[in-house]
Amino acid sequence: MTIRRLPETVINRIAAGEVVERPASVVKELVENAIDAHAGRIDVVLRDGGQTLISVADDGDGMSREDLALAVERHATSKLPSDDLLDIKSLGFRGEALPSIGAVARLAIASRAKGQRDAWTISVEGGRVSPPQPAAQPQGTRVEVKDLFFATPARLKFLKAPRTEQAHAVDAVKQLAMAHPEIGFAVGDGTRELLKLPPAPKGVDGKKARLDRLSRIMGRDFAANAMAIDAEREGVRLTGHAGLPTLNRGNAALQFLFVNGRPVKDRLLYGALRGAYREFLAADRHPLVALFVEAPADAVDVNVHPAKTEVRFRDAGLVRGLIVGALRHALAEAGHRASTTVATAALGRITPGGATLPGAPGGAPRPAMAAAMTGLRERGREFHAPLPNFQAPPRAPATGDDGTSDDTLADYPLGVARAQVHGTYVVAQTADGIVIVDQHAAHERLTQERIKRAMESGGVAGQGLLIPEVVEMDEGAQARLLERAQELAELGLVVEPFGSGAVVVRETPALLGEADIQSLVRDLADDLQEMDEGLALKQRLDEVSATMACHGSVRAGRRLNAEEMNALLREMEATPHSGQCAHGRPTYVELKLADIEKLFGRR
Ligand SMILES: Nc1ncnc2c1ncn2[C@@H]1O[C@H](COP(=O)(O)OP(=O)(O)OP(=O)(O)O)[C@@H](O)[C@H]1O
Ligand SMILES: [Mg+2]
Repeated sequence: MTIRRLPETVINRIAAGEVVERPASVVKELVENAIDAHAGRIDVVLRDGGQTLISVADDGDGMSREDLALAVERHATSKLPSDDLLDIKSLGFRGEALPSIGAVARLAIASRAKGQRDAWTISVEGGRVSPPQPAAQPQGTRVEVKDLFFATPARLKFLKAPRTEQAHAVDAVKQLAMAHPEIGFAVGDGTRELLKLPPAPKGVDGKKARLDRLSRIMGRDFAANAMAIDAEREGVRLTGHAGLPTLNRGNAALQFLFVNGRPVKDRLLYGALRGAYREFLAADRHPLVALFVEAPADAVDVNVHPAKTEVRFRDAGLVRGLIVGALRHALAEAGHRASTTVATAALGRITPGGATLPGAPGGAPRPAMAAAMTGLRERGREFHAPLPNFQAPPRAPATGDDGTSDDTLADYPLGVARAQVHGTYVVAQTADGIVIVDQHAAHERLTQERIKRAMESGGVAGQGLLIPEVVEMDEGAQARLLERAQELAELGLVVEPFGSGAVVVRETPALLGEADIQSLVRDLADDLQEMDEGLALKQRLDEVSATMACHGSVRAGRRLNAEEMNALLREMEATPHSGQCAHGRPTYVELKLADIEKLFGRR
């Protein structure tokens, strides 16, 4: 494909604005060009965070002498053959990047086109173009950008510390690399390697290649703790991976959306994610996801942002519904699969008993033992395979719940309860290990599911209070609660006005048992504040039920007998999502016998 100047009519329709904001934008544009040129590997060098030098070399298609001269002209591109801005299959389409970079820096491009013997180089300094010269260059293209913004010193002031600019630039490469596991990427600062991503070996299944690439970028835990997503709706396909709720972060930095191979920032995605994970995660925790939308070219407008970082969907509702639906489905299927990082972390904290035995000199682990433990912790990552999805459990054996035969154990994924310790944890024996359940977290999750089921079948029964309880609050909160009194009553919570700035509670949901009424009612008032007024409580049942469950659950510290403990385990097995409490904390961890044996050096 040769480069040509775009007609004026097309130029005028291209989203105008600043292309080069900082070193990361230059890196992004140059790496995009290399990807569009079918590179197999791309090498990036950054000096001083990219301010003094950015070099991007590829082994792609390269450019002829004529193309090289056109490439640095404004609005000259090889990527828009039909003039149709709604038919874009490449990352670039405007013919803007190279001239924009040449206008603010010293730009040099050396290139040798596929199948040609000669290589050429061209340079642009602060917008002044020099004619092409012969050069030595293998097939492909090397672009060097020196002294960024030397021609526009005012913009230098906006640059952050080199380390910060470097981090942004590396992030830009990482994002593009996530969508292209078949390409090898390397980034260095001239002396150190900053990022190295080998290309997927030939013949490797595309899904596996992508997951490998993703976990190199999102962290080793990701592969073991992510759900594969694959869904389609009306010609729009969604694939990728979404982390289990228990693998979460305090910010949204590890949430990525790609549309037709292009990394985009999209509020739609963040909203859809929040919606899908809402009942599994506290509001200030964020899941890790990398989702890839493939849509027909004419269903997305990529020409909406000067840096090409946003897109517009023809049918945004369809895409949002697809994302939320697919994630919800995956979360339901993952059932009570808890993040393996939890078990690994737990294992990492176990110290050998010998070290703390009374009389052990100094109480410190012997060096050999300490080394063994470190090795074990390392290996812990590998030997914790994710828990399988459970089938619905068979009915409890008629002999009662003290069944000890191996048959019984094999029947129950969460095993048979053996003990309650510290009034908080239930320890159960499974066919091939032990399970430790946080009874409060588990009970909270089960209660939430019970509330939801009761609502589906007509409403939650209320239980009258012998002595109605007065809850004080500000008047806004009181008004919000009373506005919803009718709906709350369906949830088993009967509140009435009580002077100004208080309500009196007459009934609470029976299945909460003895609830902490004060904080329950205040937290509900808070929830209501965040809710859209037009929305029925039923539509936000996940939040409301989570709040309710949180205040009615068996608190840590309550004694449970064997029957109660086993009933808890069986109900967890039968309940969707029981692997995490409503706040994204795990409700149980499992230690496999094999791991325990390793702890004791039996393996
Ligand atoms: N690394 C490269 N290998 C081969 N050809 C390249 C390379 N970089 C740029 N080109 C050629 O130069 C042209 C201009 O590149 P430039 O990045 O300025 O515009 P674009 O990629 O067409 O559109 P956009 O401005 O949206 O990036 C491209 O259309 C392409 O033909
Ligand atoms: Mg480009």
